[in-house]
Amino acid sequence: MAERKKRLELTWIGKEERPRLEPRILLETTSLSYHAAKRATEHDSFENLLIHGDNLLALKALEQQFTGKIKCIYIDPPYNTGSAFEHYDDGLEHSLWLSLMRDRLELLRLLLTEDGVLFSSIDDSEVAYLTILLDEVFGRKNGCGQFVWEKKKKPSFLNASMGVVTEYVLAYAKDRTKSPPFIGGLTTAGKKYPLNNAGNGVKVLTFPSGAVVFRCVDQVFEPQDMSEGKIVTRLLDRLEVRDGRNVGIFRLEGEWRYSQSRVDEIIAEGETLVISKSPFRPNHVKDGGEPKKLKNLLSVAHYEMSTYEDATAESIALFGDAAFDYPKPEKLISTLIDAVTNPGDWVLDSFAGSGTTGAVAHKMGRRWIMVELGEHCLTHVLPRLKQVIDGADPGGVTEATGWRGGGGFRCYRLAPSLLEKDKWGNWIVSRAYHPEMLAEAMCKLEGFHYAPEPEVFWNHGRSTENDFIYVTTQNLSREQLRFISDQVGRERTLLICCSAFRAKKDEFPNLTVRKIPQAVLSACEWGRDDYSLNVEQLPPVQVVEEAKVEARMNAGANGEATSRKSEGRRKKGHAVQDLPLFAGLGNGEGHR
Ligand SMILES: C[S@@+](CC[C@H](N)C(=O)[O-])C[C@H]1O[C@@H](n2cnc3c(N)ncnc32)[C@H](O)[C@@H]1O
Repeated sequence: MAERKKRLELTWIGKEERPRLEPRILLETTSLSYHAAKRATEHDSFENLLIHGDNLLALKALEQQFTGKIKCIYIDPPYNTGSAFEHYDDGLEHSLWLSLMRDRLELLRLLLTEDGVLFSSIDDSEVAYLTILLDEVFGRKNGCGQFVWEKKKKPSFLNASMGVVTEYVLAYAKDRTKSPPFIGGLTTAGKKYPLNNAGNGVKVLTFPSGAVVFRCVDQVFEPQDMSEGKIVTRLLDRLEVRDGRNVGIFRLEGEWRYSQSRVDEIIAEGETLVISKSPFRPNHVKDGGEPKKLKNLLSVAHYEMSTYEDATAESIALFGDAAFDYPKPEKLISTLIDAVTNPGDWVLDSFAGSGTTGAVAHKMGRRWIMVELGEHCLTHVLPRLKQVIDGADPGGVTEATGWRGGGGFRCYRLAPSLLEKDKWGNWIVSRAYHPEMLAEAMCKLEGFHYAPEPEVFWNHGRSTENDFIYVTTQNLSREQLRFISDQVGRERTLLICCSAFRAKKDEFPNLTVRKIPQAVLSACEWGRDDYSLNVEQLPPVQVVEEAKVEARMNAGANGEATSRKSEGRRKKGHAVQDLPLFAGLGNGEGHR
């Protein structure tokens, strides 16, 4: 029997289950949207989006408009430290985390531009799993490497066999053949690069008259062997140095780093070639200001990188007593954004936390999208971004970026599910939908771009130049359909989504008529708002374990510690019972 084809992959409980996500529309909460009172520069950006809601549905909602548009994604997902999973067995815990991450990563990948890059922070506990998961979602060949971030100056010995001072940032390109090298600053002016490179094979380089700067006194050099030790250099021509330059053309034989064409290029670009003394050891002196590749060690010593200690200080400066637990420092995020983007590019963070990515992207002149499920979207992210826009946040990378304020953002929430069940259990269009919302939602579901034309009642959007959509709750008669068909004409086609119609299906060749909601019933999963897995939805083992915990508390054992922990969660608005599990992990709980 032929062996079934096997592939190298990570498996986990529930890997095959995939949500059939409803592409929701986004509703603007205009009272929360914000912009500066006046334009600060020509490049101010006002298109930025802050979405308060679950990121899986939010990413699905962004799919139509932002597929292929995002240059850089940074995520800092809950690290699966065990705090919210403490009542589950390890296999299930990892499986849930992997499924939650996989579903989100797949959507994130779609949103990236062809040369776009995703960065994900992660700690020791899941770095190996996340790497394999990212290999699976992005393709192993698109892995760009792993940054080690020095997260603390002093190690923490809690829950570890060694003092942990690092975390990681994994980097994956949508297509590594198209993504740029990661840039970390510019070369300094005056840096010398020797032309001699022992072992490179002997070649002759020719230097035109005046091409080389001589730092020795003006004189005449006769042809001679200037080799010493392993360095081979022979002057093949008589050479006169006058006013610090070679008067005529001359040749040097040696083992060179550069080819003749590279030397010609250097001379043509006006860069400097220098010989300081005899024996000749020519150097290429760079003007500086060229981009340098980023090293994979983001540490205090290498880039004066900021740590959690610095990030906590930034958060206290912003929020005082309500400082966010374990935010990322602005410098870490700006280093990553700077590595792969230019001003005006889109940057996205779907685990916004306290809003560091948006704040940094804004200060760097990038456009941004952030998604955050927790209440801190309103209590932390929103006021932080307002401060940035007002130029009233002097912390983080404000000085380094020269940020003075300006721009704005729109605040959105997810629309409820388009369909709901009536009292007989039949799917109907949700009562929360008014006609404009219905038209926009149907456009999204059917793959049309929503752009209603007020003059043409039947034009709610288009999929191509000549293909349009009309959404109505009316029951359309044959006469009405004929009238619309005549208006659409022979050169165009129209999809009509209506409550009911009276005509044969193919009666009008330029019209396709469908009933709502029947036409979309099987398109996706309806009425599901929570893809973060509620604690209550998990298997009954929880009930047993909770009962055990309660019994221990009642008996006094561990009581103080347990109640202090839940107290902490309440303080952050993270009561375990009413927050989805994925979000409950988000605020660190003292594990980072
Ligand atoms: C570790 S924090 C991010 C911290 C952030 N990098 C900062 O500097 O402030 C992770 C965040 O992800 C959020 N989160 C978790 N699950 C989510 C979900 N399903 N949708 C949206 N946000 C979620 C949590 O509420 C938490 O704020």
